[in-house]
Amino acid sequence: MSQILTELTGVPSTLLLPLRGRADEQTHSHPLFQDPLAVEWLKLLPFNNELEEFYTKYSRAGNILTAIRTYHHDKIASHHIANHSHPVVMELGAGLSTRFHRVGKNAERWLELDLPVVTELRSKLDTQTQQHQFVSASVMDFDWMDTLTDVAPENILFIAEGLLAYFEVNEVQQLISAMRSRFPGATLDVEILGNYTKISNKNFTKIGAPLKWFVKNEQDLAAMGLQVVNVWSLYQLYPERWPWQWQLLLKFLAQFPYFRNGYLIVETRL
Ligand SMILES: C[S@@+](CC[C@H](N)C(=O)[O-])C[C@H]1O[C@@H](n2cnc3c(N)ncnc32)[C@H](O)[C@@H]1O
Repeated sequence: MSQILTELTGVPSTLLLPLRGRADEQTHSHPLFQDPLAVEWLKLLPFNNELEEFYTKYSRAGNILTAIRTYHHDKIASHHIANHSHPVVMELGAGLSTRFHRVGKNAERWLELDLPVVTELRSKLDTQTQQHQFVSASVMDFDWMDTLTDVAPENILFIAEGLLAYFEVNEVQQLISAMRSRFPGATLDVEILGNYTKISNKNFTKIGAPLKWFVKNEQDLAAMGLQVVNVWSLYQLYPERWPWQWQLLLKFLAQFPYFRNGYLIVETRL
């Protein structure tokens, strides 16, 4: 297949960054996970100059963080699937996530929700089946919730990886409130960014994807009505994946909540 001409700009274009991070992880001597599809798809998708500059600037630490977050969400999804008799997984702002192909084979259903421009792109690369479906919608247009009317909420795992920080706090609150009233008891696995991450926002703004929502810590999610089940700082997960000098630095810095809370994965109950 020749290169696909995408019209991705702004926030949708950011899906290329984790895709490339996952593809680059495959060049590591001991990758945290296998992702041949990311390598294949990346070859078909051109990067514009702004994205290239952004990626190059952050790639050393950014790639490791991408690998760590991918692997950890994979583990959460695998655990959910193994512990439910009719597991359903829905990725919100799925981008070109390849998680279904890594860990989703035993899910009853796996849905990839993203904006129409992204779902269209996925349809050129990936195949929809009864088990693996693509939902073309804005997460903020709550009609998408009707795709899950026949599922008991406790069987559902929602994954919001690299999504919520692009919304204003009141939008996040509206989404959480709507999900809580439609899917009480479902699991929501989210990533949140702390105030420390604001230092990189100039560069996100440059690629047309300013970050808008920052938290103090996971208690901000509890205040929005979510039950916090587990919290992990990305800076403390899989330390062996970092070069040893970085391991020492991260160990030191992660003692300070301001740094530790800069990038969290939080498992919550709706
Ligand atoms: C940084 S990418 C993350 C993609 C994927 N979750 C991953 O980690 O590879 C952000 C994604 O959020 C999607 N997105 C942004 N606004 C959205 C909205 N209102 N509804 C659904 N998806 C949205 C973008 O299109 C993009 O695919």
